[in-house]
Amino acid sequence: MAKTGQREEPIQALLKEGRKFPPPKEFTKAARVKSPAIYKEAAANPLRFWEKQAKELRWLKPWKKTLEWKLPYAKWFIGGKLNVSDNCLDRHVEGPRRNKAAFIWEGEPGDSRVLTYWDLYREVNRFASALRKHGVKKGDAVTIYMPMIPELPIAMLACARIGAPHSVVFGGFSPESLRDRINDCKSKVVITADGGYRRGGQVALKKNTDEALKGCAFVSSVIVFKRTGQDIDWHRDRDIWWHDFVKDADAYVKPEPFDAEDMLYLLYTSGSTGKPKGIVHTTGGYLTGVSATHRLIFDLREEDVYWCTADIGWVTGHSYIVYGPLANGATGVMYEGTPDFPDKDRFWRIVEKYGVTILYTAPTAIRTFVRWGDEYPKRCNLSSLRLLGTVGEPINPEAWVWYWKVIGGGRCPIVDTWWQTETGQILISPLPGITVCKPGSATFPFPGIEADVVNDKGESVDAGYLVIKRPWPAMLRGIYGDPERYQRQYWSQIKGVYFTGDGAKRDKEGYFWLLGRIDDVMNVSGHRVSTMEVESALVDHPAVAEAAVIGRTHEIKGQAISAFVTIKVGRPQTEELKKEIKEHVAKKIGALARPDDVIYAAELPKTRSGKIMRRLLRDVAEGRALGDTTTLADATVVSDLKQKYEDKEG
Ligand code: PRX
Repeated sequence: MAKTGQREEPIQALLKEGRKFPPPKEFTKAARVKSPAIYKEAAANPLRFWEKQAKELRWLKPWKKTLEWKLPYAKWFIGGKLNVSDNCLDRHVEGPRRNKAAFIWEGEPGDSRVLTYWDLYREVNRFASALRKHGVKKGDAVTIYMPMIPELPIAMLACARIGAPHSVVFGGFSPESLRDRINDCKSKVVITADGGYRRGGQVALKKNTDEALKGCAFVSSVIVFKRTGQDIDWHRDRDIWWHDFVKDADAYVKPEPFDAEDMLYLLYTSGSTGKPKGIVHTTGGYLTGVSATHRLIFDLREEDVYWCTADIGWVTGHSYIVYGPLANGATGVMYEGTPDFPDKDRFWRIVEKYGVTILYTAPTAIRTFVRWGDEYPKRCNLSSLRLLGTVGEPINPEAWVWYWKVIGGGRCPIVDTWWQTETGQILISPLPGITVCKPGSATFPFPGIEADVVNDKGESVDAGYLVIKRPWPAMLRGIYGDPERYQRQYWSQIKGVYFTGDGAKRDKEGYFWLLGRIDDVMNVSGHRVSTMEVESALVDHPAVAEAAVIGRTHEIKGQAISAFVTIKVGRPQTEELKKEIKEHVAKKIGALARPDDVIYAAELPKTRSGKIMRRLLRDVAEGRALGDTTTLADATVVSDLKQKYEDKEG
């Protein structure tokens, strides 16, 4: 371990990034938050800050107490009652937003639908009524396994309206993954579609559901939306078409007042041990946290066209496609398919077509766009954009600068937002009108959030573990059915604080820099080096588009650094270039971080949400049999790499 003064540092910070990007003046002039006073105010009285945010919502009964904190369980807005669907819909249809677009949806084949708040309200009411007539009651978990079509948020909001927690399972998951998740929460009703469009093909959602249900005897009904019209098997006693299901439903279901602490949804996240954990989110605090962060971090204006490119099957879609934006009465774009269908310019075509003003995407997508080349965004008019965001992984400074220049045209602030399925809401991010950004840094904790970087003893250090020191409204309320794991995983490593599992460093000006998962930190000759920093140095080389770095066992150094890189289109992949790349890293962040081997990869192994699976690369580099590959987006990627590695690289 490195030492600062007397304190042991769990990670050694190497990367120096000196560039600064102040918010463009024009942006600040019109921004919602123009003064840093918001940080001071919130720090002086965080509860008052959150109360103020909560008051932006419609409460059917006011709360009596703002927070009860008995570690590790927090309760927010105790005694308060509200209905999430009432906040996302009824509130808006009663006023001038009635005919405003809630969702502008584009299907992958190019079909398009616009749903106004009134449309969405009508559809949600019908579906909520149908669910209720079907016997779904408050507290019954409902599993939703759908493509990115408007019926997905409709189903979620209908569940919320009647108090049935939903469990959305990402449409790319296999029948086994779907089965595990249904089994864990024992839902009797599953909502799906015949299929969905993806990269020009059709995903077999109904077929997967049939397969999954072979192991779930307690599922009594499957509601099927007809999206593609593909051939499917039909189980008469179990399956119901969506259009038949809503035929006799009522047009209105009164939004019942639910307790602020009633469960809104469950969302499974795979975690390191493989068995998925059902993260529990509740009603009042969650909606407060997501609506406030969405409004302030995305500087939301009435006329914005906001596009979050995530899939609703992930937490990003729950919080920042559905609940945050709808609570705020925003117009959101929703897209069904992939960024390269029919061509690699699809995202930019959509931005131009709908005049998108705010774009929120993932570093993995940005690095892919860098690799494809500038010609695709250059084909389109992106001048409607005024703000950009990223989430999901640390963003390498070079990818950040590319995003700023090529997509934002040097006009748009970038909000690099750090958070997790468990945190429910963004916790670390710039406020775009006031924060001077540094590429690669998520900058500062959101007002009202207290984060720290600590060592094993819980002492503040410059580089170590990221922890959160105070409860926040949208925090998880537990792991479904596993209180012991909740306590162990998040509240036991360091006493009294929430353990994020991420490494971070804090610079002299107090900026937070995320360094990736703690499990990925390497130990090279006694130095604890973050994979993120070496990867950023690699991506800084002009030929490198994307990089994944791992430590493999080395007799002398403890661990040696293996770097898997993808090269930009059109650059020859020579031995000479490998040497150049290694030297580039040594020069940029120091000789100790010079990769021992560089391996050219056509693709890097990623989860379906785009995170690099370094664990599998370690298996490849150590010559081990591959561990669990079920969460991998494309299984052939690692087998190809394994072959290549065995053929000797270096
Ligand atoms: O490691 C951090 C990384 O993603 C993890 C959370 O993943 P998940 O629960 O799937 O939620 C993703 C969407 C919120 C974190 O522990 N992560 C997320 N955002 C960032 C990030 N790492 C660095 N910078 C970010 N902006």
